Amino acid sequence: MNITNIAVLVSGRGSNLQSIIDNIENGTIPHASVKVVISDVDGTYALKRAQQHGIEAVFVDPNKYDNKTSFENEILRILAAHDIELVLLAGYMRVVGANLLETFKGRIINIHPALLPSFPGLHGQQQAFDHGVKVSGCTVHFVDEGVDTGPIIIQRCVPVLEDDTADVLADRILEQEHKIFPEAVRLFVQGKLIIKGRKVEIAD
Ligand code: GRF
Repeated sequence: MNITNIAVLVSGRGSNLQSIIDNIENGTIPHASVKVVISDVDGTYALKRAQQHGIEAVFVDPNKYDNKTSFENEILRILAAHDIELVLLAGYMRVVGANLLETFKGRIINIHPALLPSFPGLHGQQQAFDHGVKVSGCTVHFVDEGVDTGPIIIQRCVPVLEDDTADVLADRILEQEHKIFPEAVRLFVQGKLIIKGRKVEIAD
């Protein structure tokens, strides 16, 4: 079976990146390889994690480009150089533009720390906590032109407990993120995800 070449886009600490790397290394995600990690923020811990695993780590400085298109053209160039087939957004804090989206249509996957379509955008855990929900969770979904609106692959519920703070809740959600993101990647790599309109069929 062919190896699926993966790129991971990040902006921060990279714990979800780590879960993908670990699950590839321990064989839970077979036939896949993270070829490059791209950060839009300099010196992120995610870049260090990549280097620790011998993965190419690249900072692409958004301030060096006139607009989103030229910034993403540089990202596209790096993706093409590594023969990338699947792009993962793991704490990447930008909305993907038209060019990148079109080139990788149905091949960009994001992890979001809330049960979409509730609480999209920034700080999903805090939004849910402030709203007073009794259950929150996380969502892995394909990326489309909206903000956290693409077809849902896997969701996992997490209870909100009486004495939670937003941070405690976020940690409980993160544990589940580290399970469902690698699971979704495995399903993609094995060709088991079929997008039908808004729905994703899982042929597992
Ligand atoms: C995660 O909560 C993820 O759901 C969200 O951003 C956070 C990234 O965390 N999109 P990390 O960088 O993977 O640790």
